Amino acid sequence: MRTQVAIVGAGPAGLLLGRLLERRGIDTLIIEQRDRDYVLGRIRAGVLEHETADMLDQAGIGKRMRAEGLVHDGIELCFDGERHRLDLRALVDRHVIVYGQTEVTADLMRAREQTGARIVYGAEDVMPLDFGGSQPRLRYTENGISHEVACDFIAGCDGFHGICRQSVPDNAITSFERIYPFGWLGVLVDQPPVAPELIYAHHARGFALCSMRSNTRSRYYVQVPSDDSVENWSDDRFWDELRARLSPETAECLQTGISIEKSIAPLRSFVAEPMRFGRMFLAGDAAHIVPPTGAKGLNLAASDVRYLADALIEYYEEKSTSGIDGYSERALRRVWKAERFSWWMTSLLHVFPESGGFGRRIQRAEFDYLTTSLAAAQSLAENYTGLPV
Ligand code: APR
Ligand code: PHB
Repeated sequence: MRTQVAIVGAGPAGLLLGRLLERRGIDTLIIEQRDRDYVLGRIRAGVLEHETADMLDQAGIGKRMRAEGLVHDGIELCFDGERHRLDLRALVDRHVIVYGQTEVTADLMRAREQTGARIVYGAEDVMPLDFGGSQPRLRYTENGISHEVACDFIAGCDGFHGICRQSVPDNAITSFERIYPFGWLGVLVDQPPVAPELIYAHHARGFALCSMRSNTRSRYYVQVPSDDSVENWSDDRFWDELRARLSPETAECLQTGISIEKSIAPLRSFVAEPMRFGRMFLAGDAAHIVPPTGAKGLNLAASDVRYLADALIEYYEEKSTSGIDGYSERALRRVWKAERFSWWMTSLLHVFPESGGFGRRIQRAEFDYLTTSLAAAQSLAENYTGLPV
């Protein structure tokens, strides 16, 4: 079996890369370890930066996002009950679109199925081979039968726990990591959102976030210790804790209900350098992880894919290697800026017991600076809506 670009992973990065290459006549094969329903069942944030939304349009899959996505011109920061709206549109003339990652994945899957481009679900023992040479191969097992795919390039879009990054020799890769001493307990509920825009709340009891998937389905989070367990949290306990961390007027408007999904996600910052190893490239969570505070995960996957697709298209159409030679440096420049913003926003909004009274005063000063300085507010708005790709 042969393809031009073998893509490992059918998450947003893999599917979007496949879509962009396919539209330029480049043959791809996507190899996914999970089944289709499992991939579609993942509950993930979907705050699309301006550039990401434009990319979905350019990929020919933006129609439903434009019709059903919620355009948000602002966000609310709430600090110990003190509310402050950041008008993104007024600050940087940008907005974000709230459209669940599950929906982005579904739109990309549907588009690939409509063209008949190859995708293998339920693959086992996936292994990238000989990517240091000029004839890389991808091995996998499907229904007990082993397959080997000859290809020009391998795209490792297989997420943080994927095989591609792990296949790189230790002496060829450097990782940078910060693990936070807390996680996010998230609840999905079929109730209207408590507010028309997202609310990022800092409280002495911990961080809270009020988000949404649509006008009838809401997503809420509270900071919990990293060793906490979902079993410790009844719906009632969750709603009480969320109310306690919001402003009184917001808490009063909260419409609660039975959770349809409840889970705890750990928070970490992680970057692997470089993002290219001969004929294998990493993109998305395979190369980096951000704490979800800045809603950058999906958007970083999209910008990696933009750069990688441009580089591979240039290789095939212009027989030039400058794009693929420059991919890692170009992608990492944007990755690290998003890592900085996500770390900064996490540091501003969460409770860090070990930082004591001094840390709490610094957080208060940061909030006061944000609410009194146009430059500070514009900086947050510029990063939140997305730095140039
Ligand atoms: N072989 C094949 N597929 C694999 C393997 C493997 N060995 N390991 C992982 N995968 C698949 C996973 O099942 C998943 O479907 O790779 C896909 C990776 O998708 P994501 O983890 O969603 O990563 P990415 O596409 O980079 O998207 C990043 O998704 O995880 C969120 O917060 C993240 O919003 C960000 C976005
Ligand atoms: C979400 O809706 O899941 C979400 C929104 C914004 C974030 C993180 C998560 O910063």
